[in-house]
Amino acid sequence: MTPSLQLDPQGRLRHLLTTEGLPRPLLERLLDRAEPYARASEAGFKKDPLLTGKTVVNLFFENSTRTRTTFELAAARLSADVVNLHVQASSTAKGETLLDTLKTIEAMQVDLFVIRHEASGAAHFFAERAAPGVAILNAGDGRHAHPTQALLDSFTIRRHKKSFAGLSVAIVGDIVHSRVARSNIHALTTLGVTDLRLVGPTTLMPAGIDQLAPGLSIEHDLMRGLDGVDVVILLRLQKERMVGAFLPSLGEFHRDYGLTAARLARLKPDVLLMHPGPINRGVEISGDIAYGERSVILEQVQHGVAVRMAVMAEILGGSQ
Ligand code: NCD
Repeated sequence: MTPSLQLDPQGRLRHLLTTEGLPRPLLERLLDRAEPYARASEAGFKKDPLLTGKTVVNLFFENSTRTRTTFELAAARLSADVVNLHVQASSTAKGETLLDTLKTIEAMQVDLFVIRHEASGAAHFFAERAAPGVAILNAGDGRHAHPTQALLDSFTIRRHKKSFAGLSVAIVGDIVHSRVARSNIHALTTLGVTDLRLVGPTTLMPAGIDQLAPGLSIEHDLMRGLDGVDVVILLRLQKERMVGAFLPSLGEFHRDYGLTAARLARLKPDVLLMHPGPINRGVEISGDIAYGERSVILEQVQHGVAVRMAVMAEILGGSQ
């Protein structure tokens, strides 16, 4: 949306708010930077002193399990001091504005805020008002963006598929409410995916979404949309963001769009099955394949730590 807010005049990452408009070399650099963190952790070496003396605050206004935990682990493994603020229980409940909350914590000399908020644009709001030298990292703002999820998805795909060029990728389900879908659309097309299919019912497909990037197509029939794909990214039905009638019923959604073992068996033998979590078993995916042979859902969680370390290192740790 506003790359200039994210990048300094030399093109270095200042805040991470969205994948939209980020140049391909920067995305590749972040993925490259995550690789040694992933390898070190797989080899049992988890700690790096890079961010010793830095302070990271996780400011979560919306629930989260894996994103908050992996951000916390990422900061801790880089040796930063980490504070998790449970915002419901804090002063905002007493009527303090968001900006007052931010300024108050900033006065405690924080270097980086990781922010999740239900309002689209919340991370931009904070980035525009943060003191110089204080970084904002978007951990999900409404239905707008979730850039680190897209990076960890790209990282997971790259580890299995080598190159993005020539890949066919399908994003399936509740596109309309999904910040994960939007961030993946920008990241994957920038990284070189030229066949990116958005698959779901009309009611969950925002008008004009196929204009967001080149190479996008919309498909309403699940198996046509999945024909020949290399990667399937399933999305959680965001029931908490649904006002009014988006769906006839969860059962009908599963019948038309749920991925089952029988449907999976008709896809390419080396297809990757992805989901940002949390999964609704028996809705977008049947329980028996969630952690099956084709699933990389838990790898996505694991890679979340390395990718978030890479982003924090890039913003706070200087160049490599
Ligand atoms: C996603 C999110 O919060 O946007 N989850 C996540 O970060 N792991 C997707 C979702 O909640 O469905």
